[in-house]
Amino acid sequence: MSSRRTFLHHLGLGLSLPTLAGFSFAKENRNPFPTGPVQDEAYWKAIRGQFPLTADRIYLNNGTFGPAPFSVLDALEKSNRDINTSGEYGNSDQERIQLTQFFGIKPTELSITHNTTEGINILAWGIPLQPGDEVILTTHEHVGNAVPWLNRAKYDGIVLRTLEPKATQEENLTEVQKLINSKTKVIALPHVTCTTGLVFPIQEICSLAKSRGILTAIDGAHGAGTFDLNLHALGCDFYAGCFHKWMLGPSGTAFLYLREESLEKLRPLMIGGHSDTGWNMNVNPPTLAGYVPSARRFDYGTQSKSLAVGMVAAAEFHDKIGKTNIETRLKTLNQYLFEGLSEMNSKLDILTPEEKESRISLISFRPKNTSYQACGNALGKAGFRIRQVPEGGVNAIRVSTHVYNTQEELDAFLVALKQILT
Ligand SMILES: Cc1ncc(COP(=O)(O)O)c(C=O)c1O
Repeated sequence: MSSRRTFLHHLGLGLSLPTLAGFSFAKENRNPFPTGPVQDEAYWKAIRGQFPLTADRIYLNNGTFGPAPFSVLDALEKSNRDINTSGEYGNSDQERIQLTQFFGIKPTELSITHNTTEGINILAWGIPLQPGDEVILTTHEHVGNAVPWLNRAKYDGIVLRTLEPKATQEENLTEVQKLINSKTKVIALPHVTCTTGLVFPIQEICSLAKSRGILTAIDGAHGAGTFDLNLHALGCDFYAGCFHKWMLGPSGTAFLYLREESLEKLRPLMIGGHSDTGWNMNVNPPTLAGYVPSARRFDYGTQSKSLAVGMVAAAEFHDKIGKTNIETRLKTLNQYLFEGLSEMNSKLDILTPEEKESRISLISFRPKNTSYQACGNALGKAGFRIRQVPEGGVNAIRVSTHVYNTQEELDAFLVALKQILT
């Protein structure tokens, strides 16, 4: 049986579905990097060949975990081996410079962290707030943005004010405006929600916040690696993102952007080696001179050079395709899926906004005649890796697509979904 036949057999879809004609899967070998044109589906099929992703399932859950391409895995492995061969563990100064170039920021504005949540915790505890001060979030937070702020509220009596996301960028900007008052000190929204993939108009929100003297601490878990992102141009004070989702970097890699002008507004509550400008335990009382004038103060102690090398390889992979090409491709796949799901509107409700600016790479829908869990489990059995979304009572199926996905995979998904919902 060919791989296509085997896969269709797994799906229980038979072999005569016209929409699946020409269905092809990644080969477990390493093809040369494609040269384009990026408008052709063939280019993206060849991009799929840059990943070791198994041909036994269709992976539609990049919003949770972004599988790394061969180039990242190779760089990671080589660096780890080199370090453990030479014993020269070095530092990540060069990698930091390369990563900051990727995001359009200064080398002093980036802290290398381990996940988005770590960055959010640095912000939630670092921003000086008094009891009664208000922070704006949404009712659609991921636990990683909810719990750190809830924890701060529990200890320090700050007040969390939430908005219910609406269908358009204009409405969402208005919702933020409505929540702002003299006590508002921080806007801590996600760039893209994990529930429905809604994209907030972060640039406009940051500009509004700045005009009112409010700090912006953005949860960027789904921002880096999707948009052609220039963090400086985005205008936020702080942006916590990760490399293990859309950047397709190593697991356990992330970053925190701290705008130069805003660095000193944060209390560095957790520090260590490389955070300080000097300390002395031989005087009485012992002294701490100060903090390095850089976001580096937040990634103290021994760090993994190999992970930083893997992050750079991930940024290079993006650059090789082109950040704009990636953004365009993600929007194309998203629109393709949106239209396919819209044709099934008697069977499901799409929860992701229709407005194109309000979505990029994730779509959530709720089946009308069965539970989202039953539908999600059936999709899983049929060979599709999706995510079920209980957060915020959304109760939906979330499908997320990245550069390794093809339109044929989405066709197969839509066919399977139709069968499940019949
Ligand atoms: C919107 C959002 N914020 C934060 C997180 C937490 O990310 P991390 O696992 O990198 O801490 C996630 C993870 O899925 C997320 O979707």
